[in-house]
Amino acid sequence: MVNLTIDGKEIQVNEGMTLLGAAGKAGVDIPTLCWMKGLNDIASCRVCLVECDGELVASCNTPVREGMVVNTATPRVVAARRANVQTLMEGHRYECGTCVRQETCALRTLASEFNVSDSQFYLPEKAPWDESFPLIRDASKCIKCMRCVAECSKVQYCSVWEHSGSGPNMNVFAKDGLPIDAAGCALCGQCITHCPTGALTARDDTGKVMEALLDPEVMTVVQVAPAVRAAWGEGVGVAREDATPGRMASALRALGFDKVFDTDFAADLTIMEEGSEFVEFLGSDKPRPMFTSCCPGWVRFAKLHYPQFVAQLSSAKSPHQMEGAVVKNTLAAEADEAGKRIFVVSIMPCVAKKYECDVPQLATEKGSDVDAVLTVREFDRMLKMFRVDCGALEETDWDSPLGLSTGAGTIFGRTGGVMEAALRSAVFLITGENPDFSACDTTDSTPEKPWVSKHLEVAGTPVDIAVASGLGNTAKLLDALEAGEVHFDFVEIMACPGGCVGGGGQPIEFNKELAVERAANLNALDEADTLRYSHENPDVQKLYEDWVGKPLSHTSHEWLHTDQQTWDI
Ligand code: FES
Repeated sequence: MVNLTIDGKEIQVNEGMTLLGAAGKAGVDIPTLCWMKGLNDIASCRVCLVECDGELVASCNTPVREGMVVNTATPRVVAARRANVQTLMEGHRYECGTCVRQETCALRTLASEFNVSDSQFYLPEKAPWDESFPLIRDASKCIKCMRCVAECSKVQYCSVWEHSGSGPNMNVFAKDGLPIDAAGCALCGQCITHCPTGALTARDDTGKVMEALLDPEVMTVVQVAPAVRAAWGEGVGVAREDATPGRMASALRALGFDKVFDTDFAADLTIMEEGSEFVEFLGSDKPRPMFTSCCPGWVRFAKLHYPQFVAQLSSAKSPHQMEGAVVKNTLAAEADEAGKRIFVVSIMPCVAKKYECDVPQLATEKGSDVDAVLTVREFDRMLKMFRVDCGALEETDWDSPLGLSTGAGTIFGRTGGVMEAALRSAVFLITGENPDFSACDTTDSTPEKPWVSKHLEVAGTPVDIAVASGLGNTAKLLDALEAGEVHFDFVEIMACPGGCVGGGGQPIEFNKELAVERAANLNALDEADTLRYSHENPDVQKLYEDWVGKPLSHTSHEWLHTDQQTWDI
């Protein structure tokens, strides 16, 4: 243990701790910008300066020493921090009035706190960028904090971002100077949620959706992914307990959509298809394991970095693509009668789904299953544009019949949820009985424990399952599978840490990882649901009766399955 004094308080902390950590323990708040715990301690921004034995030092990467006397808020410290924020502002393209990150920009918050209104604001040149790609980078807003570089290389193992030079000459760019679409980007969007400014954003598709809403010849259909219900309120100032699914349905109606459906319905449908596929797979001699396929960030990662595993993906489309296909097929007559064409919008916690809905191999002669994908941040922006008082909305039900879902569909939004939902139904398909709910507790995978696994016996058949979230964890699991160190029958992968609740399209709160909190919300919704098994969803049963026949039928293959090996990347 080390003894030191911070702002007059004597404290004792573990050896090796940083001054920032020690200050936190003493209840002293120090501003930070570039620092990410355990990932980015390069001390580039110098916003966390403190005075220590007469020296100014960066608290985020200075280790404690016995007898240190530290002052965190002297006039000298505050003036130095202010000067550093000012320098950062002067190198940053200043267009806060129109920047999509204006309310969540950590630099803007600091600039306001430090009153840097006397800065010389320049407009650094924007660099060319492919604006059609779902991930947008505006180099003129980059403050070279390197958080994206750390997140992409150390957590997500894609290493899309590189840097050269140092100090004011430092540059960040896509790997090897390649165009972004050739740089190995899985489109998880984690660099966006960890960027402190508006340098990294998702392509804005709200204009496309507004055009559809304005067109009298269009029937607008919206659907909302499971994980959105746990986070949408964050961006519009509604407390988690008040941001209910029923209020979200009303909020979507307030935007003027003609039909408001729940992707949870299609998550149940995915389980019927993927669960049936897994039961068939178990009785086959196909190479193990079968992988879930509902996460397009994972599909892209596999195609780009581990193509040898792509043939082992479940052929089930992701839930929102299934819901889009069902909408386009079952509502076609109603739309024709009204002289309208259908436009499907998916509200997703995800950036990769913007890519997925445009994959040409997923389209039919009638066009794409899904016409536009909005992130939760775009959804929240639209709610603000329409001045919807979300907290005051009455709760309403989803439209029928593509709105009814079970708790199994809801937990799709968190790591382990797809596996658990699939097993609830796969076990029923094999044994004729519903299993317990806790098939695989997978909420505790960490960088030290990259995946969670479990051995099950289902009607005498051994079944080994594993779950991983985050692409770094995924890479470790795939390497172990390839080396023959582990063997599994069924593996669930979600590209974002914690699953879609931690998705790259979710609302951003600087330096807060909210996946666990949001997952608890989904678990509570599952527990409160009267229906908890996908095979018990009466509207899914009716869809099979009226349209699809049975899981893995000819129609099911046409509407609900794909071959990811053929997808353009
Ligand atoms: Fe410590 Fe940036 S937060 S130097």
